[in-house]
Amino acid sequence: MPLELAPARATAHANIALAKYWGKSDLSRNLPAVPSISLTLEELVTETEVCFEPGRKHDALVLDGRPATQKEIRRVVALLDRVRSAAGIEHRARVMSHNRFPTAAGLASSGSGFAALATAATKAAGRELDLASLSALARRSSASAARSIFGGFVELAAGIAGEDELAAQQIAPRTHWDVRLVVAFTAAGPKSVSSTEAMERSRTTSPFYDAWIGAAPGWSERVKRAIHDRDLEALGAAMEQSTLSFHCCAITSRPSTLYWAPATISALHTVADLRAEGVQVWSTMDAGPHVKALCEAQNASRVREALLQTSGVLRVLVATPGSGIEVSP
Ligand code: DP6
Repeated sequence: MPLELAPARATAHANIALAKYWGKSDLSRNLPAVPSISLTLEELVTETEVCFEPGRKHDALVLDGRPATQKEIRRVVALLDRVRSAAGIEHRARVMSHNRFPTAAGLASSGSGFAALATAATKAAGRELDLASLSALARRSSASAARSIFGGFVELAAGIAGEDELAAQQIAPRTHWDVRLVVAFTAAGPKSVSSTEAMERSRTTSPFYDAWIGAAPGWSERVKRAIHDRDLEALGAAMEQSTLSFHCCAITSRPSTLYWAPATISALHTVADLRAEGVQVWSTMDAGPHVKALCEAQNASRVREALLQTSGVLRVLVATPGSGIEVSP
């Protein structure tokens, strides 16, 4: 075992699910109860550096230049412990991570964050893992992170209770389809309830959770076929049902998790109005108030303008299909 281990740096891009993951089939292994399909986004990047240091007493984590909270540290230490045990090392680590977009604001920063951390920590521990193993490692910390290991269009199957190795896989490269996700920011600040907590609330208290579990695989199949056929209308219809249905579970759980801000509804209307005017655009939301509108590249500036003029929308970002993880030299 080397005493000195070189620091390692990795970047990962956030992904937005087109067919949503919501709910777990195995809480301790963090296995998703339904299949999901996502698009990795080039503009939303997390950069992470990990260095295992001999003599260090505790793992230390700096996020966007500030010391991390205890809750954030616990999730990172859990991943580092897995890496240490696989590599046979005991050194504590210094971790620095930087998001080029708002953390915990419903923009799936845990996805790119844990994908970058899994990659950088594995390299810093002196190990080489294939993409599937990195994806499974990231998935243990945050299931959406399994998808950010890969670029383009990515699928994560539902997990069967007890399995350990569930990983995502790419179903089409970023060059397959030149779509845009136009992100309308509808509120400032971090989200009120973590997705982990909100999905457990849905599972244990929403009367609609079983219906969600029954219907979600069908939407995922439709999204997958629509990506293959480059059929935006079929993709958009399944995508909207998927997002509204998981929000239905969240809203009807006890206590209710209502992620929507007033401007969320306004932005949803803007997207529906554009469609009524003949623009091919559909919306999706994650565990937060922002609205993401999916359209073809040639319609992105019109969608952007309409969302910018929507009451309560703070700013708008146009995102393009992105690449998977990269290890810095
Ligand atoms: C609504 O991956 O953040 O964005 O596995 O508990 O960390 P954990 O949950 P997380 O959930 C993402 C939920 C979602 C939908 C999705 O990305 O598929």
